[in-house]
Amino acid sequence: MKTYTLGQSREEVIGLFPERKIKQVLLGEQKVCVVRVGVDFFAFEPYCPHRMMGLREGWVTAYDEVVCPLHQYRFELRTGKVAMGDCRELICYRTSLEEGGLVIFI
Ligand code: FES
Repeated sequence: MKTYTLGQSREEVIGLFPERKIKQVLLGEQKVCVVRVGVDFFAFEPYCPHRMMGLREGWVTAYDEVVCPLHQYRFELRTGKVAMGDCRELICYRTSLEEGGLVIFI
């Protein structure tokens, strides 16, 4: 497992990620989507497990699910479970918001 840190402080990384705006980042050679809901950060694979649509074009529901823009399949951000749709689960990565920034465990 590798760890990556985004930002240099808790405040900086909160400012870098407007609430519920999905951003794609590059960690090493791996693309990852990151979204913030309050002080909770979620990191997940960048392409939908159904037909590989880019999830940075998607959106986050009030139930903390990411919705794929192509066929509107929904995935729980906390677990990756499919909330609506018929495909494998979304791969999610553990995150930890710390004084030195956002740590993502890949
Ligand atoms: S490609 Fe994402 S729901 Fe079909």
